[in-house]
Amino acid sequence: MEQVRAAITAIGHFLPEDVVTNADLEKLVETSDEWIQSRTGIKERRILRDPEKATSYMATKAAEEMLQKRGISAEELDLIIIATVTPDMFFPATACLVAANLGATNAWGYDVSAACSGFLFALSTGARFIESGKHTKVLIIGADKMSSIVDYTDRTTCILFGDGAGCVLLEPDSTGNGVIDSIEHVDGSQWAALRMLGGGSLHPPSAETLEKRLHYLHQEGPSVFKHAVKGMAGVAGDVMEKNGLTGDDIKFLVPHQANLRIIDATARRMGITMDKVMLNIERYGNTTAATLPLCLSDWESDLFPGDNIILAAFGGGFTWGASYVKWAYDGSKFGA
Ligand code: UT7
Repeated sequence: MEQVRAAITAIGHFLPEDVVTNADLEKLVETSDEWIQSRTGIKERRILRDPEKATSYMATKAAEEMLQKRGISAEELDLIIIATVTPDMFFPATACLVAANLGATNAWGYDVSAACSGFLFALSTGARFIESGKHTKVLIIGADKMSSIVDYTDRTTCILFGDGAGCVLLEPDSTGNGVIDSIEHVDGSQWAALRMLGGGSLHPPSAETLEKRLHYLHQEGPSVFKHAVKGMAGVAGDVMEKNGLTGDDIKFLVPHQANLRIIDATARRMGITMDKVMLNIERYGNTTAATLPLCLSDWESDLFPGDNIILAAFGGGFTWGASYVKWAYDGSKFGA
């Protein structure tokens, strides 16, 4: 019998209805649709405007869709891991709030903070609980309300980000499908290139942190860009080489959606053409921890058992990594 692996057996997603176009941003900052599209590939993004709703709301909606599609109840969940850098609050963890919303009374859970690599890191962690035999149903969610930490007077960042949530269910599989391998990295020496300084124990909220706008995300774009190209393309190539895969073996690359040019470099390093790349950055922008599951959700109907897919991400920390997954179910029964 094949070893037990963690297979993705269902997907859910949630996107807020409100659309912010490049033309909308032209009214807020000195920018242009032409600049944004040519430098990033983004045309529009979704924003959760309701001030009463936050990341847990979107994560709950995504999880409810997944449960409904899989035909299981929330009580069956063993563990909920949420990747986010925009938790509803520092504590309790967003996973606790989502468990309560869902009625997942038999689950435990926690949040993972790894910025744009959060979903990958959570997937890798969750897979271990399945492989070890401890759990049979692990919910992995990537969710971020980036609009809550974006400075809409900063043209270098406000054009990039959007809000959204996506999730997958992990269950045991003994047929050879599931999460086959992954590689993860951090480089904390580069922490300052992508950060939000205010609100933590180093700079607790004060009149001064507010005045200095420390409660907003700050990015040194060109530096992150340079490292992201090297990191994401490198690690995607590494996980392929480690598993003896060539571009021909890959059905899809599922890349973090930060910049079309970074994705292009990754595809080239992997030796695959852009028709094998999941791309929705033009519609949603960078939703941080949600980009990978939102791609899987959009392409679900094109995924079939045994398909080889590579997920890759790079983000603040720096954090980066790649996962090799063999798809486990007929997505055409569920997708659009
Ligand atoms: O998800 C986590 C990981 N994040 C990423 O991977 C993002 C990585 N970085 C990037 O994607 C790119 O660096 C950006 C899209 C953020 C910026 O693109 P860039 O090609 O690196 O532009 P730049 O920052 O070098 O700026 C070029 C010029 C500058 O003007 P000067 O100094 O040449 O006169 C900027 O001030 O473009 C200017 N600029 C803008 N112009 C119009 C910066 N932002 C804008 C804007 N509209 N929104």
